[in-house]
Amino acid sequence: MASQKQNDSSAAGYQPLFKSFATDAIHVGSEPEQWNSRAVVPPISLSTTFKQHGPGKHAGFEYSRSGNPTRSCLERAVAALDGAQYCLALASGLAATLTITHLFKAGDGILCMNDVYGGTNRYFRKIAAEVGFDVSFADLTKLELLKAALKPNTKMVWIETPTNPTMKVVDIKGCADIVHEHNKDIIVVVDNTFMSAYFQRPLALGADICMHSATKYMNGHSDVVMGLISLNRDDIYERLKFLQNALGAVPSPFDCYMCNRGLKTLHVRMKQHFKNAMAVAQFLEADPRVDKVIFPGLPSHPQHELTKRQCTGCPGMITFYIKGKLEHASTFLSSLKLFALAESLGGYESLAEHPAIMTHASVSENERKELGISDTLIRLSVGLEDEEDIIADLDQWLLKICYPRN
Ligand SMILES: Cc1ncc(COP(=O)(O)O)c(C=O)c1O
Repeated sequence: MASQKQNDSSAAGYQPLFKSFATDAIHVGSEPEQWNSRAVVPPISLSTTFKQHGPGKHAGFEYSRSGNPTRSCLERAVAALDGAQYCLALASGLAATLTITHLFKAGDGILCMNDVYGGTNRYFRKIAAEVGFDVSFADLTKLELLKAALKPNTKMVWIETPTNPTMKVVDIKGCADIVHEHNKDIIVVVDNTFMSAYFQRPLALGADICMHSATKYMNGHSDVVMGLISLNRDDIYERLKFLQNALGAVPSPFDCYMCNRGLKTLHVRMKQHFKNAMAVAQFLEADPRVDKVIFPGLPSHPQHELTKRQCTGCPGMITFYIKGKLEHASTFLSSLKLFALAESLGGYESLAEHPAIMTHASVSENERKELGISDTLIRLSVGLEDEEDIIADLDQWLLKICYPRN
């Protein structure tokens, strides 16, 4: 069984699948023996407080912000899936980013990949920088730029790979080696939202922290907003655990239950996202109405070989440039029927969006131009519907927009 699974991804030239991933997703953290009732599905523990045997003598939980049984089930499952010793769940991806940044103090340097989710860019530029962090950005796909960008005060390097929305792939091991050689105390964080734990394990590649917006693939059903932080280092975990409680941006037990439920099918969903996205990317690449397709699973992607070296496959995220102008992109997006025109990604349903107007509106016009986030750039989150129906939706509206007389 295990060797068959390995074959699926390695036959396509990617890293072999992580051993026992599905088994861990289904069982770790959900052991029935932990409950007196022996419930097979972990109960939702809504109580905000827990009765103590004597003052300061509790049975593992005191107050739900500092720890909650349902959250603990989820955190243990995610730690196993990320190949980590520890995981902490936060109220959103951005709450995870904020909590990680609180490891540092004003004056400390944060070096961030220049092409990241718009909200991450906004947080570092407009909030962290304003309270005194020394924030800088560089194209970390070029390792020589990383070397040049490290400063004596650099305390954290923030990588997102593939990047949102232009799907650049950063060499995690290459970056972590350079950073840690420069100074082993610099913390390398990888935002693993696009790949999910199924396709990429940043900690095994040398990163110190793996972060997810679980709002996306990890939960996978577009009904929970959540962030996750996984790591192995005891000292950073202790500090982050303190910050999780002290800052208080924790998710509700219900959301933890939902996300844990989503994880049980992560492996099944990701395989199908990859299959559907591959078919869509090939369709778009062959289409004369499309200028350019960016999908790390295509041999035409500049970091396709790197993707195969560091990942077990690719998620359903595709970016492409439609021929024409803003009005073409706009009409195309509003016409789609199966794809919902909506922000976010990683759910079972197909979504399409216009990064320049929607998710990356908070990035300055100049920066968008530099990064290639143009008026004709469209981002797709390819869902789990039937491949032919997904392609038919794109095909018919591309046809109407670009060849209206046909
Ligand atoms: C790559 C990436 N990181 C972080 C975030 C922020 O996560 P959240 O919306 O859960 O706060 C997002 C949201 O779209 C994202 O796409």
